[in-house]
Amino acid sequence: MELLPEIATRRSIRQFVDEPLSRDTIQRVVEAGRRAPSAKNRQAWRFVVISERETRDKMEDACFGQDYVAQAPAIVALCTTNIDYRMPNGQLSYPVDLGIAGAFMMLQAEHEGLGTCPITTFQEDEVKAILSVPYQMRVVMLLLIGKPDESPELTHRLPMERLAGWGHW
Ligand SMILES: Cc1cc2nc3c(=O)[nH]c(=O)nc-3n(C[C@H](O)[C@H](O)[C@H](O)COP(=O)(O)O)c2cc1C
Repeated sequence: MELLPEIATRRSIRQFVDEPLSRDTIQRVVEAGRRAPSAKNRQAWRFVVISERETRDKMEDACFGQDYVAQAPAIVALCTTNIDYRMPNGQLSYPVDLGIAGAFMMLQAEHEGLGTCPITTFQEDEVKAILSVPYQMRVVMLLLIGKPDESPELTHRLPMERLAGWGHW
């Protein structure tokens, strides 16, 4: 089955080459998030880019010491600027919106030959303090980005018949 190569070959990267990314490169990745769809096109998000070593070290501590966090030359914190908006289905829009924005960034990074790892294992209060995120806002996900220094196997996925229904559950 032919898929976009960025989708077919992407896997999480947890070892990065110690090499900074250019501002243009990071900007293209963030631009992919900017172009992502959001409920009612509200775009209630803010993307905070971290590349300074000292801040990355602090972020690693806030991520329970996951020791590849500070290795990534760039970390994008995907934050919401509104935690209240519910969609007509009653569900909060921000986890959906930010999840899609994160996926767009991951695929753009992949297209640039970079590796990514989404991270949600972090102490949000600590991350908020490090990045001066206002009290009412939330940090939904961190995205590690950098040149891969490993080539892991693709991870397992459930078979199509387990997860897709045609016309009914
Ligand atoms: C919402 C979300 C949160 C994740 N949080 C972490 C994390 O905190 N630390 C980590 O090492 N990987 C994290 N991952 C990466 C997953 O472990 C990984 O995507 C999954 O095992 C599938 O592997 P693959 O990305 O290589 O296909 C997260 C992924 C997602 C989608």
